[in-house]
Amino acid sequence: MAAEPPLFITLEGGEGAGKTTQIVHLADYLAARGIPSIRTREPGGTVIGTRIRAVLLDPDHAGMAPQTELLLYMADRAEHIQTVIRPALEEGTSVLCDRFFDATIVYQGTARGLSAEWLQQMHELLFAGLKPDLTLLLDLAPETGLARARRQLAQGGRASGEGRFEAESLEFHQRVRKGYLGLAHEEPGRFRVIDAGRDADRVRQDIQAAVDMFLSQRGDKALRS
Ligand code: TMP
Repeated sequence: MAAEPPLFITLEGGEGAGKTTQIVHLADYLAARGIPSIRTREPGGTVIGTRIRAVLLDPDHAGMAPQTELLLYMADRAEHIQTVIRPALEEGTSVLCDRFFDATIVYQGTARGLSAEWLQQMHELLFAGLKPDLTLLLDLAPETGLARARRQLAQGGRASGEGRFEAESLEFHQRVRKGYLGLAHEEPGRFRVIDAGRDADRVRQDIQAAVDMFLSQRGDKALRS
């Protein structure tokens, strides 16, 4: 039997949705199913990306122009796709990525107001429109998520000096949530919306169920073709 093609799975969601915890569980779950994977993230999945991340998330850079912000995310992604994502997929290793291009559409597009069409064209031109097979959207009321994320920052649970987006208004984060739910609505075949407002164990179980369903549907399609 031919080996299953590797998966490209992304986790998305607003601040404090629990992606960082859940991606670790997901990697363990896939390993238990015999699917080797790497865990990575945007921004900051490479050495150069780590430096770009520090510039992007520094609260002292509150007034950064939206175009500067966009190009830094794109630069981070260029390095990440070229040196991490594509090589892994080409050697047959699945990739679990904490945020990807949907975050650009939502944060730089819906929330900051840059044209989604323009962002899409850049993604096509630079990255041949690379798309995840499955995107898990951890959906949470921004009031709850922001409180969690700000608490983590205050307790030093995240690298200090990463609070630029946590300092944005509630309205900004409401636009982010709306943007993500809109994308999920447009692409129901790729997105699974997970209620991230419950305890972490329930969220983990829902993610596993979504991945099981995706794998069985993919298996059915392969059998039919
Ligand atoms: P993180 O908190 O998930 O590590 O993400 C860092 C921040 O970067 C988060 O507030 C969302 C933001 N972001 C964008 O604005 N555009 C992007 O393309 C990506 C990948 C992240």
